[in-house]
Amino acid sequence: MQDHQLIVISNREPYIHQRRDEKIEIIRPASGLVTALEPILRQFGGLWIAHASGSADLETADKQGEIRVPPSQPRYTLRRVALTREEELGYYYGFSNEGLWPLCHLAHNRPIFRLSDWEQYQAVNQRFSNAVPLDSDGKNSLILIQDYHFALLPRLLKQRVATASHRPKIGIFWHIPWPNPEAFGICPWNQELLKGMLGADVIGFHTQYHCNNFLETCNRYLEARIDWEKFSVTMDNQETLIRAFPIGIDPSPVRTLNLTEIKDLKTRYGIHAEIVAVGVDRLDYTKGIVERVEAMERLLEKYPQYRQRLSLVQMGAPSRTHIPAYRALAAQLREAVERVNSRFGDDSGPSPYRPVIFLGEHHEWEEIQYFYQMGDLCLVTSLHDGMNLVAKEYVWCQAAERGSLILSKFTGASRELTEALIVNPYSIEELADSMATAIELPTAERTRRMLAMKEKVRSQNAFHWASSQIRTLLTGTAGISTVAKAS
Ligand code: G6P
Repeated sequence: MQDHQLIVISNREPYIHQRRDEKIEIIRPASGLVTALEPILRQFGGLWIAHASGSADLETADKQGEIRVPPSQPRYTLRRVALTREEELGYYYGFSNEGLWPLCHLAHNRPIFRLSDWEQYQAVNQRFSNAVPLDSDGKNSLILIQDYHFALLPRLLKQRVATASHRPKIGIFWHIPWPNPEAFGICPWNQELLKGMLGADVIGFHTQYHCNNFLETCNRYLEARIDWEKFSVTMDNQETLIRAFPIGIDPSPVRTLNLTEIKDLKTRYGIHAEIVAVGVDRLDYTKGIVERVEAMERLLEKYPQYRQRLSLVQMGAPSRTHIPAYRALAAQLREAVERVNSRFGDDSGPSPYRPVIFLGEHHEWEEIQYFYQMGDLCLVTSLHDGMNLVAKEYVWCQAAERGSLILSKFTGASRELTEALIVNPYSIEELADSMATAIELPTAERTRRMLAMKEKVRSQNAFHWASSQIRTLLTGTAGISTVAKAS
């Protein structure tokens, strides 16, 4: 890495400066991508280019939109790209999150494709391309593009640097699932997106299955050479490797709360149940949060012995609230929570019992760690998810003998964390039963499962994820996945 300058490009920035009343707050956004990339930049330094989404982002940065971060101990530079309201609506809310997000997640939400959104998406990809410095003090650049917001960026950058003395290596990592060719084919601009991505030297996904889908999609829609042995696509004389790099978390030790501290935390949040199930998500319709509340209701119907003894504590950071589908989800969730609480809650005693406690604001990492430790079970019930780092964070933070993970089979994480209780979140019955099973697991069995998962989370961590990609980019050799043709 010494001869290289690392440049990361993502929509979401690792630190948001937000004006609240007279004060400026620094927010760490709820994003798996930020969780995984931040430790890499802290370690190696470099430049992170992202959308300036905070109301005080520009006033806290210099004229170039740059600021050294982390604010308490600067290690790398964050360059913020300001977008107009129209650009943000079209590129971020529109094409990225009403188009590509539901296109790639099979959660039965219809994608919306508007020409005006697509035009803003193209324009913003161009703006980010212009924000990438070509001259990196004589060093070669390693450009790591993140996610579905920037499908066009690899090709735009390749064209821009065609004549530069130092040709950068370009990788794009797609943090969400890649659907099958039929599903992807409904996007009116499917070829443009594929060609844009193929400007990269390496394209990464979390699972081999998504790599297979991507190759089949290229095979279906492009005049390109697919090499099923090397797992690559060649177009316009440029070869792109397609590889699986399962993302992980920062494996730094976390502070462990003792039992008294956990009790205090429960009291602070009015949690009086002896057994706690936790859920930690952005409020997104792909996360299966309503299903989780319904499962809690079913559990209390079917297993009356848990009434008054078990609460679900659900943290739901607000997300993409301009989009009608997200507002509809929030309303649906509110209704479900109220229903379950009025059916099974009890206000009569000195310690009122609420089956579901919903915490709908943003929480900082330190607090989230403690909620994980409070959780006898953690529910990850995504209807579809590229990886899901909450599952890994919970395994990492919770004591081995205290925690059980219930994990949707439609997450990338379920391919690795096979010792979790793997569930189909569309089956409320199965979810409810698995919660009962988790509570009743003998301690030795619970510990065995958690220790096995902890070892995987420790070794397949964020550094491993980043270094495998960087190695593949630098050497052009296979990543960590086994190359396999889709059956
Ligand atoms: C998903 C995406 C990330 C994104 C995160 C948060 O995990 O793959 O790119 O950062 O959601 O979403 P937001 O729209 O708030 O950035």
